[in-house]
Amino acid sequence: MGQNQKEMSNATQIIHSIPVDPLTGAISVPIYQTSTFVQEAPGVNRGYDYARTGNPTRATLETVIAQLEKGSVGVAFGSGLAAIDAVIKLLESGDEILAVDDIYGGAFRLFTHIYQKFGITVNYVDATNAENVFHAVTPKTKLIWIETPTNPTLKISDIAAIAKIAKANGCLLCVDNTFASPALQNPLLLGADIVVHSATKYLGGHSDLIAGLVVTKEKELGEKIKFIQNASGAILSPFDSWLVIRGIETLPLRIKQHCENAQKVAEYLIDHPKVDKVFYPGLKSHVNHDIAAKQAKGFGGIVSFTLKNDTEQAAIDFVTSTQLFKLAESLGGVKSLLCHPANMTHKSIPAEIRKAAGVQDSLIRLSVGLEEADDLIKDIEQALTCIKKPNFQNVNQ
Ligand SMILES: Cc1ncc(COP(=O)(O)O)c(C=O)c1O
Repeated sequence: MGQNQKEMSNATQIIHSIPVDPLTGAISVPIYQTSTFVQEAPGVNRGYDYARTGNPTRATLETVIAQLEKGSVGVAFGSGLAAIDAVIKLLESGDEILAVDDIYGGAFRLFTHIYQKFGITVNYVDATNAENVFHAVTPKTKLIWIETPTNPTLKISDIAAIAKIAKANGCLLCVDNTFASPALQNPLLLGADIVVHSATKYLGGHSDLIAGLVVTKEKELGEKIKFIQNASGAILSPFDSWLVIRGIETLPLRIKQHCENAQKVAEYLIDHPKVDKVFYPGLKSHVNHDIAAKQAKGFGGIVSFTLKNDTEQAAIDFVTSTQLFKLAESLGGVKSLLCHPANMTHKSIPAEIRKAAGVQDSLIRLSVGLEEADDLIKDIEQALTCIKKPNFQNVNQ
């Protein structure tokens, strides 16, 4: 007798959520590189007619991600931002989004520069305390948008508490689960309605694709997202769908190692004399460490920190001196990356708003990869020695 899903470990479930091809027995999901499907008569087909509407490789990924996130419907897009865009298209003119204040810069740009002109407004809130969210909801709020952990200051919001607030106010809760991945956290089980992913990050896992995913708890909502996917057309290609599926096969193993390495790096940084604050939910000193421990199975692979010399120049000295950590946007891949959000990922956010959300000038974000943790720490150690002393003017600024 086979084991039921509940008896299996998370890793086993994830690996075996990827099906063997029923047609041929291929252990690797086939890539259906086709634009259209031959029909026997108009409207008589084998489940597919045109590849924007549906493609078997993409459909497999969509089923797999729905299972991993414990939802009903998964929908795959050409980027994480296209996935976010599809969710916002559920709204109407006059609706309000209540979003976490240190939101991913690209989502901020989309909300502000694309959707505000269509009459959708956005309010921002520090969601680390659910009470703030409770007070910030207005009768116009139709969607609460959180990332947890956030990018790049690793703030943690209590998903279950915010889900209750959303439900009580008749609005949807969408969680950007990119940083945790479904290997660590399942927001839909905690009461969220929608999960989005930049699958470019941990799900793909190898810095070799751009992809986005949406998963809904309810089938009806999922059908609306599918309609938007087909109507707007920002689909994921068959080959990139296959790459994400392949990435998912090693997700549990990679995430385990990312978490272990990141914890060691964070603990090293916290004692360093040149480092001011360290942001990592796995540190007991993290303000919402207990919530992170309660709602996730681990703390992820991203560590951010600021310098005592809190200047852009000091951060630039550091990010141009590492050897193993490569200076690049993005995160979640096998190779360690680092970035300077003020000048890179968060450049589209005005400086006052960025700083108010805790993204200081010297903030550096590390995507801790799968190299040996000791080698990564040595790399950080030598790069910290490359930070030049602040000049007199900077000190007094
Ligand atoms: C938390 C988060 N959400 C969404 C996105 C957007 O994803 P993509 O770059 O795949 O469009 C990113 C990209 O960095 C991100 O970090």
